[in-house]
Amino acid sequence: MFNIILFGPPGSGKGTQSEKLIATYGLKHLSTGDLLRSEISQQTPLGLEAKSIMDRGQLVPDEVVVGMISSALESNPQAKGFLFDGFPRTVAQSESLDKLLSLKNTEIGVVLALEVGEEELVSRLLNRGLTSGRSDDTKESVIRARITEYKNKTTVVADYYSRFNKVVHVPGEGTVEEIFSGLCSEIDKRMSL
Ligand code: AP5
Ligand code: MG
Repeated sequence: MFNIILFGPPGSGKGTQSEKLIATYGLKHLSTGDLLRSEISQQTPLGLEAKSIMDRGQLVPDEVVVGMISSALESNPQAKGFLFDGFPRTVAQSESLDKLLSLKNTEIGVVLALEVGEEELVSRLLNRGLTSGRSDDTKESVIRARITEYKNKTTVVADYYSRFNKVVHVPGEGTVEEIFSGLCSEIDKRMSL
């Protein structure tokens, strides 16, 4: 099993690159943002609780996202590996993920951290907000709140995995294909170890 965390700020291209990576490596894509939006569209109690937090650009509670990831791991026993997108976002989430993976006798193989400048992030997300229907993309103040939340609570996740030498920084500006090839070359180096 080879498990990857695709790490990076809001708008850094995690979703875009995940689609290409799962097609190439046959991994199961687990995006907590997508799982939460699915709960919202089904109007579940969890979705209703999460929506107001997401609309403010803040993180939903750790136990909510860890619970969703735990069920997703359980319901995919045949997966060749997992690609985590938008998770973990706090040190507590990272510790929970490591425990869940160790119960399955596996671990994170690499953390690929996409590097994109802040103004590029804002411009990508405002642009997507014109068509995406994502309510957290329409207001610049909410986009900036998401970036602040990332700086305050999520950048430490990279520090956490750096202690285990698992983090690789990959340029996240350029064409989608250029960035994809940078990610693949880092994965290929580690998968063959
Ligand atoms: P989530 O859904 O994870 O959103 P995010 O991290 O804010 O990031 P995005 O999905 O907006 O960006 P992305 O990096 O996937 O980039 P994308 O490929 O889409 O989380 C949403 C909310 O859910 C959070 O704010 C929080 O409330 C909650 N949540 C989720 N997970 C949580 C967790 N673990 N803990 C607590 N709360 C959690 O690209 C963005 C745009 O750029 C697109 O339009 C794309 O077409 C474009 N683009 C992509 N690549 C390029 C390129 N190379 N050049 C130009 N444009 C590009
Ligand atoms: Mg995304």
